[in-house]
Amino acid sequence: MEYMSDELKRRRRLIDPPDVEKEKIYGDGGRSGYWERIKNTVVTEIPNTTFGDIGCSTQVKRELIFIFQCLVNPFLLKKYGLKQTRGILLHGPSGTGKTLLIKALANMFNVTLFLVSLADIASKWQGEQELTMNILFSYAKANIPSVIIFDEIDVICPDRRKTQDAEQKIVSIVLQNMDGFKNLDGVIVVGTTNLLQNIDIALLRPGRFDKIIEIPLPDQETREKIFEIHCRNKLYKEIDYRLLAEKSEGLSGADIEGVVQSVLQSNIRTAVYENREPDNLYTEDIIKALLKCTQRTGNTHENHFRLSYT
Ligand SMILES: Nc1ncnc2c1ncn2[C@@H]1O[C@H](COP(=O)(O)OP(=O)(O)OP(=O)(O)O)[C@@H](O)[C@H]1O
Ligand SMILES: [Mg+2]
Repeated sequence: MEYMSDELKRRRRLIDPPDVEKEKIYGDGGRSGYWERIKNTVVTEIPNTTFGDIGCSTQVKRELIFIFQCLVNPFLLKKYGLKQTRGILLHGPSGTGKTLLIKALANMFNVTLFLVSLADIASKWQGEQELTMNILFSYAKANIPSVIIFDEIDVICPDRRKTQDAEQKIVSIVLQNMDGFKNLDGVIVVGTTNLLQNIDIALLRPGRFDKIIEIPLPDQETREKIFEIHCRNKLYKEIDYRLLAEKSEGLSGADIEGVVQSVLQSNIRTAVYENREPDNLYTEDIIKALLKCTQRTGNTHENHFRLSYT
């Protein structure tokens, strides 16, 4: 699905919101530094990830694509009286493709992408974080269709009962901006996290993050697809993807990529030392690396951070 030509994509520029335009004329009261800070969170290069690069359940893909279709074609909403989704929360173990999914959607629909982490808004000065957050939402509104991504949202909007004053204020600014009385048509907020239980509960109310989607560890069928994706290389020959999927239970997409890359790397390293072309790689080579990795980890996700692929 293409919504804009390559030429237009390249020409796309960030539009300043009306209050910033006014401040340019009447004096900004020292706020231009905050505008610049927000402009730095915009992803200017369009990611080249596509859904073909992601092993993920069809249901999740369809659900996400439909939300983005409604974002770029609001007539779909008007026609059937649907409300626009304000927020999507993607949660699940690390390395399961949450960030990758959003990159693919941004590529497919060519939306303006604001990728925000705590460092982009944190400040030691009182009131500065709230101001930055408000400016972020104004920029998103001025550049619709747009998506604000709070990566690791559990540290940006933690549970207010367990935090200090400064963090509580950020949460309330996000809540205010996502609430119905502020017009957020054309803007979607996406949060990704590994720790759903640490997020402030008020964010999970319908009307804010109304779509909560779990991205779990891949099942056997999905692992097969992920192996295929990461073995798309001419050095891999006669690979039995089903067997690899059977032997890799408990591994995430990132783990699978790590195993495949380690095999490829050691093969090429040997070839470079011996000054010859690298050999083709077969299923057994990957299985050897998988066994090493699963023996060490006990093949459970809890242990996956101890993975070492060498
Ligand atoms: N489902 C998948 N299909 C294909 N590749 C994947 C998948 N999941 C992860 N990967 C690989 O792992 C890398 C890291 O994935 P990504 O950053 O999307 O994980 P994440 O879920 O956002 O993790 P975290 O919660 O730690 O931020 C990707 O760049 C990709 O190469
Ligand atoms: Mg991520």
